[in-house]
Amino acid sequence: MQFETLLLEQKEPGIHLLTINRPQALNALSPQVIAELTGALAALRADPGVRVLLVTGAGEKSFVAGADIAAMSAMSPLEARAFALAALGLLRGFEAAPFPVIALVNGYALGGGCELAMACDWIVAAESAQFGQPEVNLGICPGFGGTQRLPRLVGRAMAMEMCVTGRAVKAPEALRIGLVNHVVPAAGLLDKGLELGRAIAAKGPVAVGIVKHLIQHGQDLDLENALRLEADNFAVLCATADKREGMAAFLEKRKPAFIGC
Ligand code: CAA
Repeated sequence: MQFETLLLEQKEPGIHLLTINRPQALNALSPQVIAELTGALAALRADPGVRVLLVTGAGEKSFVAGADIAAMSAMSPLEARAFALAALGLLRGFEAAPFPVIALVNGYALGGGCELAMACDWIVAAESAQFGQPEVNLGICPGFGGTQRLPRLVGRAMAMEMCVTGRAVKAPEALRIGLVNHVVPAAGLLDKGLELGRAIAAKGPVAVGIVKHLIQHGQDLDLENALRLEADNFAVLCATADKREGMAAFLEKRKPAFIGC
């Protein structure tokens, strides 16, 4: 696929890197970026060889500095609603993808950028990263899920403070409040993503996809149904060739060779 605002490359077997590539606008999410990301994600989801997706922004300054303010300034309410729904569909697509998606945040992750990072399965931040929901400075509220995903990650009070005051948190504070999993020097960000990607790619891919599904969807269920969902998926995995291979490899004291079915 050809993109004007994205770079999509396979870095290693099963490990793909998606770079939002509008550094002149700090990688702001225009309608074109949202449409191209949607197309790229659909192509990745259709490829059974994808084991992990890394998402980052071009340049050293910014992951994504938000939804595109110039584009939004000209939008009617109905256009703004269509823009938000397109982005929400994209972000739900990251959450529903059968492979883990890791955000590599290399600078500003503001507004829609913070929302995009939070829709990834987890976040690795460069020491230079900053996270915030500054929409109130523009007289609007978050539109791509910030008021809903942020409290689920950092708790209601901290999410309330960040969304109501627009205060950005720097990488060490983001680590402390549970918004990011790791903070690394900027020069080591991709290497950390690849290290995580290799660890994931070595596991049984069907099991990895089901673990992601259970954690993503189980938290929205009551505990009894969530536990039953886990038990049912545990049973389904016991019908896979990868389960037979994984357990045989353990008993034979060798590395497993998973085939993804
Ligand atoms: N949309 C469009 N363009 C943006 C942008 C955005 N969100 N953020 C930055 N840019 C552009 C700037 O307009 C500027 O373009 P020009 O060179 O053509 O003037 C270029 O990127 C560089 O930006 P700055 O000169 O402002 O860079 P800086 O280092 O001085 O400041 C910054 C960096 C603090 C991130 C500042 O750019 C900024 O505050 N950006 C806006 C952040 C923001 O409010 N994000 C939320 C947007 S609303 C939203 O996302 C709604 C939602 O939930 C869906």
